[in-house]
Amino acid sequence: MFEAVQAHAARISDRRIDDLFADPDRAGDFSLSALGLLFDYSKTQLDTPIRATLLALAEQAGVAARRDAMFAGEKINATEGRAVLHTALRNLDGAPVLVDGQDVMPEVLNTLARMEALAAELRASGVTDVVNIGIGGSDLGPAMGALALAPYHDGPRCHFVSNVDGADIADTLAGLDPHKTVFIIASKTFTTIETMTNAATAKAWLAANGVSGEGRFIALSTAMDLAQEFGISADRVFGFEDWVGGRYSMWGPIGLSLMIAIGPENFRAFLRGAQAMDTHFRDAPLAQNMPVLLALVGIWHNQGLGCGTRAVLPYDNRMARFPAYLQQMEMESNGKGVAMDGSDLPYASGPVVWGEPGTNGQHAFYQLIHQGTRVVPCEFLVAAQGHEPDLAHHHQLLVANCLAQSEALMRGRSLAQARAMVGDQFTGDALEQQARHRVFPGNRPSTTLIYPKLDPETLGKIIALYEHRVFVEGVILNINSYDQWGVELGKELATALGPMVSGQAAIEGKDGSTAQLLRFVHQQG
Ligand code: F6P
Repeated sequence: MFEAVQAHAARISDRRIDDLFADPDRAGDFSLSALGLLFDYSKTQLDTPIRATLLALAEQAGVAARRDAMFAGEKINATEGRAVLHTALRNLDGAPVLVDGQDVMPEVLNTLARMEALAAELRASGVTDVVNIGIGGSDLGPAMGALALAPYHDGPRCHFVSNVDGADIADTLAGLDPHKTVFIIASKTFTTIETMTNAATAKAWLAANGVSGEGRFIALSTAMDLAQEFGISADRVFGFEDWVGGRYSMWGPIGLSLMIAIGPENFRAFLRGAQAMDTHFRDAPLAQNMPVLLALVGIWHNQGLGCGTRAVLPYDNRMARFPAYLQQMEMESNGKGVAMDGSDLPYASGPVVWGEPGTNGQHAFYQLIHQGTRVVPCEFLVAAQGHEPDLAHHHQLLVANCLAQSEALMRGRSLAQARAMVGDQFTGDALEQQARHRVFPGNRPSTTLIYPKLDPETLGKIIALYEHRVFVEGVILNINSYDQWGVELGKELATALGPMVSGQAAIEGKDGSTAQLLRFVHQQG
């Protein structure tokens, strides 16, 4: 499947990326502008034949047909028998989208209008704090978005409680006024143990403070019945359908906390940005299609060069949660060991995704990126402009650092250059040894996505870009990117272990290690 790509990898194994810039057109030829974003992938080993092979791979895999099937509401999530239609949540013109012959758009737009009405009501009320209780896709999206769009935040304070660790909710509630706090229970299934446990604790906190739960809870879920059973009135329940995957859900009801924070208009701008990326993804030829090219660079690094990880490095402090958000989106989607037909995947699945914002990461793990023995393809993101006009010099330093890192990764520093650096301090063996520690191999690939400014519309474009990238990589890998069976086993075992931890059940049927750990917990009382 990837033989042709790997043959290219063998062909270029001695080549240096910086030498490719002998071609004065390289930067322009290996970058793409769309929707005001510039995606520069010229600091990689991609050349014209490699790109052609990758594009042919995308064509053979049927990316275009599968994309069209997704937008058309076909049940491409085969293992769960579901359509995949997060794109419908930002289909603001309401053009019909059919699932089982039924147009879903009237309901989507009706829910959006209800969310807007409630957000406006809450923003105008005396509510000072909104606590979103949810985990995974019911947390990461709005939490990441609320931080990313902090300059647009003019509503009540928003907090995000996700962990079943009581520390999370305890620390959050500690500073809040129960009379002025509203809880959003965000759970697609409304059964997730972490969320249900935290929701019950929130209810108990209100009661302990003499506040009725009436009107204080909002539910976001596909399980309307369970939400109402929890005691949330129907007008405060916002439903969505099973064709919205948890990790793709921040565009609909799961985004309510973000909408409350930034206001309905800004939230619409966010949706508009994503919709623009959807249109680009649908209409642009594969060779000029940003999500497709981003995916092909990913396939090249993972399947071609065998790099098992990718670092996402936003030079944008407000994008601090973006790597975590992408970890779920990418790794829950493409971290699968079987192909669509259930056969073993004969090649590596999607890569490990990780990262931290720059410049902080530079003072932590970049050492390994520059001089470690593993090659880590890096994806830089940076805004041309910041939001703080008085601090333009900060932003200039930020941009300079971002560009410096990709340049350093590519160019490196040769032994001769290192010798010259320390030649006046050392001689003989000491000079050689000192110089070798200062060598940077260089030739390390990176891409840069640069955007004008991190406003709601731009954030929408960036997230949708990555969503479609994950989709394209999944199609090429012949993976179902929309199920997540790999999270189930741990949940089942935790349910069985609960009574053993609390002492209500004897420690039985456990391996020696697990039994020993349980005994240690019991000994501590
Ligand atoms: O355990 C994984 C998962 O199912 C994610 O896919 C999902 O985003 C998260 O749990 C939360 O699920 P829910 O929204 O149903 O509470």
